[in-house]
Amino acid sequence: MKKTTKFLTMMLAMVMTACTLTACGGGAEKGNTITFGTNAEFPPFEYVTSNGVIGEYDGIDMAIAKQIAEGNGMTAAVENMEFDSLLVALQNGQIDAVIAGMTATDERRETVDFSTTYYTATQVMIVKEDSDIAAAADMADKKICVVQGYTGEICVQDMGYTYEAFKKGTEAVMELVNGKCDVVVIDSATAQKYVGDNAGLKIVEDPAAFESEEYAIAVQKGNTELLDKINQSIEKMLADGTINELAVKYTEEATAE
Ligand code: ARG
Repeated sequence: MKKTTKFLTMMLAMVMTACTLTACGGGAEKGNTITFGTNAEFPPFEYVTSNGVIGEYDGIDMAIAKQIAEGNGMTAAVENMEFDSLLVALQNGQIDAVIAGMTATDERRETVDFSTTYYTATQVMIVKEDSDIAAAADMADKKICVVQGYTGEICVQDMGYTYEAFKKGTEAVMELVNGKCDVVVIDSATAQKYVGDNAGLKIVEDPAAFESEEYAIAVQKGNTELLDKINQSIEKMLADGTINELAVKYTEEATAE
């Protein structure tokens, strides 16, 4: 009897230790969890839903994050925050990696390391169906809406146009729908989703004005251990068609409603 109690106590202690070392702690990469930071306001890459692939989070990025963690025998956790806070949270060690449809720009490369590219996108213009905007240059005398901190804002800034920045893509699109602005500049796949959700809108592309953008996962500078794991998983998922399948699946879902 005494022996059994001792054994149980020992088991309990072991379980508790395991717990501290793994998923129960939250925060940074403790043992068996990779905590991904995201901004779940960017369908089809990340959004909040009742039954997502990681808790309430779903989308292409969330499915990729889950597979990266599980492929390495780990668990994926998500911390949802403002887009502008992601790289700071990464540097602080509050999160282990950022997966947020984030474009690997030279400026961001100064503070974090990026994985292999897993998706290529471009900025596009969302306008009303009857708009006369046919190219980026046509935005010159128009009211332009962007999302704060997104590469779309940087593009419009570099073109020298004035604009209004919103916290969320949906807010910028509502402004357009309500006739308070003429054009929203945002990433292509997300634009498709918004156009599918709102009647009377269309997409105008201008590949000569907007460079292609490479989405990648960010880790703390020098965290080669995690970066290697992430890169191996991404390369595998690119080679076996997983990422392509996810992109098709979530793009169809995003426009099906
Ligand atoms: N690709 C753009 C950027 O890197 C927009 C990303 C927005 N992502 C998000 N999860 N809100 O700035």
